[in-house]
Amino acid sequence: MINVTKVYLPSKEKYQKYIDEIFESAWVTNYGPKVRELEEKLAEYLGVRNIVLVSNGTAALEIAYRTLGIKDYAITTPFSFVATTSSLLTNSIKPIFVDINSDTLNIDAEKIEGAITSDTTAIVPVHVFGNPCNVDKILEIANKHNLKVIYDAAHAFDVRYKGKSILNYGDISTLSFHATKLFHTIEGGALVINDDKLAKKARYLINFGIENEESIPYLGINAKMNEFEAAMGLCLLDEIKNIKSKRKILNDYYKKELDGVVKLQKINEDTNMNYSYFPIILKNENILLKIKKALNEENIFPRRYFYPSLDTLKYIRPKQKCLNSRDISRRILCLPIYPELRKNDQKRIIKIIKGKYEKL
Ligand SMILES: Cc1ncc(COP(=O)(O)O)c(C=O)c1O
Repeated sequence: MINVTKVYLPSKEKYQKYIDEIFESAWVTNYGPKVRELEEKLAEYLGVRNIVLVSNGTAALEIAYRTLGIKDYAITTPFSFVATTSSLLTNSIKPIFVDINSDTLNIDAEKIEGAITSDTTAIVPVHVFGNPCNVDKILEIANKHNLKVIYDAAHAFDVRYKGKSILNYGDISTLSFHATKLFHTIEGGALVINDDKLAKKARYLINFGIENEESIPYLGINAKMNEFEAAMGLCLLDEIKNIKSKRKILNDYYKKELDGVVKLQKINEDTNMNYSYFPIILKNENILLKIKKALNEENIFPRRYFYPSLDTLKYIRPKQKCLNSRDISRRILCLPIYPELRKNDQKRIIKIIKGKYEKL
């Protein structure tokens, strides 16, 4: 079976060494030595100031809102994984959707200003499939209207824009280290925070809001990463360059074969991507369903990602309609891409897509 992705695992021996150390120390959670080591190594590798590891990418978003005191309304994109929006709602913040640009698949920065009201406190854009948002324009708008910016950078691990990590943009960027991601800790996530004071606050918030034995200054949650998860991250960080270069080869081959046959995401200039996803945009949903069926019959399972568009969710009030996002979400398919994917299987995928497309 070929799925859209396959978890990357280090050798058992490599992971076992870390597990032995954890058993020896009997320190399994609560900001242990492996979590600290991974935070330091990640900050250095990514070129960011503070990194706070957490239990998952959804918790990272929730902690980001709490750290910055976001309330009332936040502008966000309807073309994302549901957690971008649901994390707002579970923190009593109402999402106001601004439609996407149908080429970049990111929030259309030109449309953000028109959606700002006196109750807007934040902008929550997503670097969709790792493609950097129009960060300069978003910064300009945020400064003008005194808004906080939280980038959902779940897909943007190790993406560089204009020579530096994309994670340096915004008041906070959040990452997901779920097993399906390029870099993972089984379950996990992180906040990237430039401001040291805010980073300190986030550390209290992930530990129930506790500062020390006598002081609980904030309303927090439990969002701590444990030592076993951090150990997985330490194993993988060593191998990340190799993981990325294997993905790049697959990415470039898909691109060479499919560019012009199907529509591809337009990547921002001056970007070094991480090759996490390979989305293709088809002419209509009917064609998508036929291609998906043909692939499924060969035991190949691409994923409709992101679908459905979040502005169609039943629990969104007031009702909103983002036509570009609805249109793209109906006809976008993410193709299998992971280091172990064999060239022959990739060729098979391309052949099925091309064959079906030409017949339709
Ligand atoms: C854009 C985006 N945001 C947030 C999340 C949530 O991350 P997690 O699954 O680690 O909670 C995901 C997960 O896939 C995602 O794709």
